[in-house]
Amino acid sequence: VAVVRVMPAGIDIAVAAGETLFEAASRQGYAWPTRCCGQAQCMLCALEIEDGVDNAVAPEREEQEAIRRIQSLHPMVRDCRLACRMKAAGPLVVRKEGVRRA
Ligand code: FES
Repeated sequence: VAVVRVMPAGIDIAVAAGETLFEAASRQGYAWPTRCCGQAQCMLCALEIEDGVDNAVAPEREEQEAIRRIQSLHPMVRDCRLACRMKAAGPLVVRKEGVRRA
């Protein structure tokens, strides 16, 4: 289990091995911004990694393509990932507005 801290709310989410951050958040009673409900389509779940980037499991092709689209629209965004695809191998701090208790 890896703990991901979500800023600015300061919420800690425990992510089990093989689980995405989005799944872990839902399981622990948090609403994460989405329209596609975790299908890697809407990109509304996108987050920015603030710390621990090496602990984010490398993205697979589907997520890589989404990241490229996001970065072409927002060139200033670094270390962007989809919460509905990212898995954690160790502690991370991420930034995502709008995460709250469901
Ligand atoms: S929840 Fe829609 S892309 Fe991740």
